[in-house]
Amino acid sequence: MITSRTGGGPVTATQPLGGYVSDQLLRLCQAMGLEPSDGEIYARVLTDCLGPVAERPLDEPPSYPSFLSDDHTPVEYSLAFVPDAPPTLRVLLEPGYGAEGLAENGRVGLRVVRAMAERWGFATDQLDRLEDLFFPPDPEGPLALWLALELRPGGVPKVKVYLNPAASGADRASETVREALDRLGHRQAFAALPRADGYPFFALDLGDWETPRVKVYVTHRNLAAADAGELSRTDPGPRPETVREFLRVAAGLDSSPRHPGAGNGVRLEGRPVLSCHSFTESGTGLPSGFTLHVPVRDYVRHDGEAYARAVAVLRRHGMDTAALDRSLATVTSRLLHDGVGLIAYLALVYERGRPPRVTAYISSEAYAVRPPL
Ligand code: TRP
Repeated sequence: MITSRTGGGPVTATQPLGGYVSDQLLRLCQAMGLEPSDGEIYARVLTDCLGPVAERPLDEPPSYPSFLSDDHTPVEYSLAFVPDAPPTLRVLLEPGYGAEGLAENGRVGLRVVRAMAERWGFATDQLDRLEDLFFPPDPEGPLALWLALELRPGGVPKVKVYLNPAASGADRASETVREALDRLGHRQAFAALPRADGYPFFALDLGDWETPRVKVYVTHRNLAAADAGELSRTDPGPRPETVREFLRVAAGLDSSPRHPGAGNGVRLEGRPVLSCHSFTESGTGLPSGFTLHVPVRDYVRHDGEAYARAVAVLRRHGMDTAALDRSLATVTSRLLHDGVGLIAYLALVYERGRPPRVTAYISSEAYAVRPPL
């Protein structure tokens, strides 16, 4: 139930998708304190990645129903907050969005990644080793390849690639994940994962990372906060109460302030929570990182509520909320109460030996704003 767009910057009916999202990204870069020259580079990278479909006017319906965002815009922004430092801006995108069919979508995605590898001088050997697993001739599923760029100062992004474990069928997804982990040398990793209702994504860090990660995303249907505290497999891990509390606050389960924790048993029956387990070394067989992704948009009436949840979790973890305010205002001019889905997910990110971080995912809403409930 999505109506046509009502918010955003000044839109003319014929404004192209590429212009719309690159303007958003330019403003976001500025709001996050990146140099204007870096913002211009990143805005250009974004439109180049989308290819010819960037020229498509926004008043023409999306060329294919991308699963990347609810209104099918093939772009989503995120802010990764850390205590005591400015947050990092990232952008997730689907380079094969304009392609005819999922197989071609994947081929375009691979081509774009390899062109980036050439341009910025990083290796793609890990991805090359998995190509037959994730790019079968007749792929299935909601995506073929997504890219995330971490927009650092200097105009050279860090790159992450998201692949679809269900490419050869949803019933083969667990086998595909196990085989992919194996091929990358993580032979004990699959056994370490918690019980799963599905494996929506398999992700790789490519490019200039200190410790590149292999990440497995796990779906948890009807999760309760009580269970969420037990999902991490890192050692040491986050405090279970930290994870439970995050879920309760993000999903709005702590309705009675006099009984904190009363929401622990409530199951989330809407869009499922995802956990992500990141592997950096194969010595222990255990992941070094754990993330809990809460699709906050499914558990609020409007973005005013989602915003309040984001602020609550950021404050709880000692992070400044000013960058969130500035970012939301650059992405859309609509009132938060006038729609739902601008804040798509809130995530709690734990990496061994570091204080927890928080990530907020911000929708472009280039095509549509979902009305509030
Ligand atoms: N739109 C998809 C979903 O809601 C995929 C997705 C986009 C996603 N951004 C995300 C999943 C951030 C987890 C976290 O699942």
